Amino acid sequence: MKITVVGAGNVGATCADACARKELANEVVLVDIKEGLAEGKALDMWETSPIDLYDSRIIGSTNDYSKTANSDVVVITSGLPRKPGMSRDDLINTNAKIVKSVTENVIVHSPEAIIIVVSNPLDVMCYTAFLTSGKKNKNKVMGMAGILDTARYRSFIALELNCSPKDIQAVLMGGHGDTMVPLPRYTTVSGIPVTELIGKERLDAIIERTKKGGGELVNLMGTSAWYAPGTAAAQMVEAIVRDQKRIFPVCSWLEGEYGLSDIYLGVAVKSGKDGIDEIIGLDLKGEEKALLNDSAESVRDVMKVLDDMKMF
Ligand code: NAI
Ligand code: 2OP
Repeated sequence: MKITVVGAGNVGATCADACARKELANEVVLVDIKEGLAEGKALDMWETSPIDLYDSRIIGSTNDYSKTANSDVVVITSGLPRKPGMSRDDLINTNAKIVKSVTENVIVHSPEAIIIVVSNPLDVMCYTAFLTSGKKNKNKVMGMAGILDTARYRSFIALELNCSPKDIQAVLMGGHGDTMVPLPRYTTVSGIPVTELIGKERLDAIIERTKKGGGELVNLMGTSAWYAPGTAAAQMVEAIVRDQKRIFPVCSWLEGEYGLSDIYLGVAVKSGKDGIDEIIGLDLKGEEKALLNDSAESVRDVMKVLDDMKMF
């Protein structure tokens, strides 16, 4: 197995580190456009291998994609992160060009790779990678957001109940933005519906905090988060390389599911060696469906910005 992570910044380095420590591949290649950055971080990580006892080789490359050849999975994290006052959507002009050129390089050297996009605005950057790859295989181009957003939601519930986050199960759908849709009806604590343990007012506050979870961290740190995002992307890589058939939310290309078409949006999927094995159809109720439709509309607004850039 070979994994490439493009972008050796905060998220990319965290993801590569997690992939190596879990020994998800013989080789983890870290690529960045900034001279020496990927080589330096890769070497620093490799020097932890005798301490933490793993043997995935980590290799850095300054924009030399020949080193990424025949990767099984490629994670794209290259692009600008948010600064305070910016929305994820403000990043589109710069990041669309970066994601397009990176995807072009990736597919020349790894035409069969499964691509996991992380760069923001996430849903539309998935669409960018999908268009760049020639809409070749919708099950092989996907985005990481839902695992992160659900993890934030689950972690806040664990804090509220003062219980282990291991026991919180949940699913969250929609775009990676303030219109994301946490689904309390599908949230349990060791099988107990969360609504039996947390009152509506507190749960609504947790949902609001989840929706703004990315912004909360941008305001604290002056840039966006990386530990949970990088680890969440590595969980997606793990599901693929170990053919785990995990069920979790992934930003996926929809062709009629939930009554939505021609859009990348977060939905629950089953994931294994082929990427997305299956989109899980949930029987959403009226308000849940309305929220998902609202979220799709806000993603379509950003898709329109991409269309107006006339890159494709
Ligand atoms: P960062 O600034 O720490 O790292 C980005 C890296 O990309 C930099 O090292 C930069 O040199 C590199 N880069 C820029 N253009 C490149 C190119 N053409 N080829 C290769 N490398 C290139 O940013 P960070 O915090 O790692 O965030 C990366 C992206 O991930 C941002 O767009 C951010 O908004 C997004 N993000 C998405 C999340 C999600 O849930 N989907 C969560 C957190 C961040
Ligand atoms: C996050 O949710 C900014 O998308 C990034 O942390």
